[in-house]
Amino acid sequence: MADTATTDSESDLTCAPQPESEITIYVCVTCRGGRPLDLVPVPGEVLATATAQAAEGTGIAVRPIRCLANCNRGLSAAVRRDGAWTYVFGDLDPSSGAIALIEGAKLFANAPDGLMPWRGRPEALKRGLVARTPPFDFAGDS
Ligand code: FES
Repeated sequence: MADTATTDSESDLTCAPQPESEITIYVCVTCRGGRPLDLVPVPGEVLATATAQAAEGTGIAVRPIRCLANCNRGLSAAVRRDGAWTYVFGDLDPSSGAIALIEGAKLFANAPDGLMPWRGRPEALKRGLVARTPPFDFAGDS
């Protein structure tokens, strides 16, 4: 996976996010991660609540969302930053996943190239990486 290492071609992926751009974590509140359909509270809701609590005082916004089309690998969340790449993660744990998301978001917030650094990224966000999508104005690879 190209996201696992820094290469010469990775420099083509960089962008120039706003220096004080916002980070938003969207947590799927309908994910069950293979758990019983009648389980209450819904595991995705547990993850969303834990993530919001972990984000307190960080300036990171946490928003609920109903399905990220990653149902087979739930629990799921997307981390986006204005002017930068957006990351979708899956296989998140309802409680420890929250800390991983916040740690990853903090790394991402300070990345000058608009990419979430691999080094220092929590293991859950390495193993759980599903996809990344480019910023709106990304011109494509040369
Ligand atoms: S229900 Fe969570 S990604 Fe679809």
